[in-house]
Amino acid sequence: MEWTGDKGMIILGLESSCDETAAAIVQFDDGATLAQARVLANVVWSQLDEHAKYGGVVPELASRAHIRHIGPILAQTLHAAGVLPGELDAVAVTRGPGLIGGLLVGLAVAKGIALAAGIPLVGVHHMEGHLLSPFLAPSVPEPIHFPFVALLVSGGHTLLLHVRGVRDYEFLGQTRDDAVGEAFDKGARVLGLGYPGGPAIEQAAQRGDRHRIAFPRILLDKEKFDFSFSGLKTALRTELLRQQAGTIPVQPLEDVAASYQEAIIDTLTFKSIRACRHVGCRRLLVAGGVGANQRLRERLLQEAREGGITLHFPPMALCTDNAAMIALAGWAQLQQPSDSSRGTLDARARWPIRDLCRETIEEKKRS
Ligand code: KG4
Ligand code: ZN
Repeated sequence: MEWTGDKGMIILGLESSCDETAAAIVQFDDGATLAQARVLANVVWSQLDEHAKYGGVVPELASRAHIRHIGPILAQTLHAAGVLPGELDAVAVTRGPGLIGGLLVGLAVAKGIALAAGIPLVGVHHMEGHLLSPFLAPSVPEPIHFPFVALLVSGGHTLLLHVRGVRDYEFLGQTRDDAVGEAFDKGARVLGLGYPGGPAIEQAAQRGDRHRIAFPRILLDKEKFDFSFSGLKTALRTELLRQQAGTIPVQPLEDVAASYQEAIIDTLTFKSIRACRHVGCRRLLVAGGVGANQRLRERLLQEAREGGITLHFPPMALCTDNAAMIALAGWAQLQQPSDSSRGTLDARARWPIRDLCRETIEEKKRS
């Protein structure tokens, strides 16, 4: 089934929930499908250099960097798209979840533009942006049809959803402790590989033997779709301490990184393929920063092929945070009857995706 939106428009997207200040302008024609979105400009300012020396994102520094950069990024985006502020039809902004300081910067700017131009403002759930990002591939190799299972893997989230349509989500599972991106970031810190940990571990792992160390595959209940990664991080720390103490042989850093990465990827692969079988769906979509990992893509492709499952990923450049995905999710939301709270839209640092899932919405209606 292909989803189409009736109302064509030019949307400004803004994203500032973590350590990327991003703006994008995306154009939609009347009756367009999600895959027909035209990204006119997509500008991402990464604050990596500001946080790298602290080994992770420092929220206070992130807020200050957002306020410094969002103006120039916005001007650059409008210029690159060749669009004047008066030509915008709506503004979509990340409302949450994320770091509160950054969210407030994005919301304040978005409100200013929407009020000045007299256009609608829509608050987007960051993970819904990631969820729809694979539709933004310039030439989608295979059209993405609903329903599908979505594995969303980022620095703050690890989620499995059964996506029956736009805004029709069934929650399957999530991490009970660390997110998978966090497992990469914390693991890289323990290994002294720097920040962000995902690309650092992936790079080191390319030269390593992934079977060298048997790190645990924490599957919890095999029939359920929850994840847990904090035990794996502890296992890594224990392994290195024992190596340093000389109780076990010292292994090359590349082998440790490759074995650690493989344990994470095995778990993600096992649960996602199982989720597809559970809901009886042969389509799997993977999105979020960790979706950039080549070994994850390779493993999933291999397993999906064997299980007759079609796999979808966003283009590499749209795996990590960007505002094009926020504009897309905003457009999808704007096709639905609007709520009246947009003028008073607030930030939601904590915002479980379950709030967008059908079961939760129905529960709320009943109570
Ligand atoms: O989606 P994202 O840009 O931001 C959040 O919404 O959190 O994801 C960032 C996360 C970081 O934890 C980073 O280490 C991880 O994605 N990441 C990767 C790779 N590239 C980014 N993890 C594994 N392999 C990669 N190539
Ligand atoms: Zn993200």
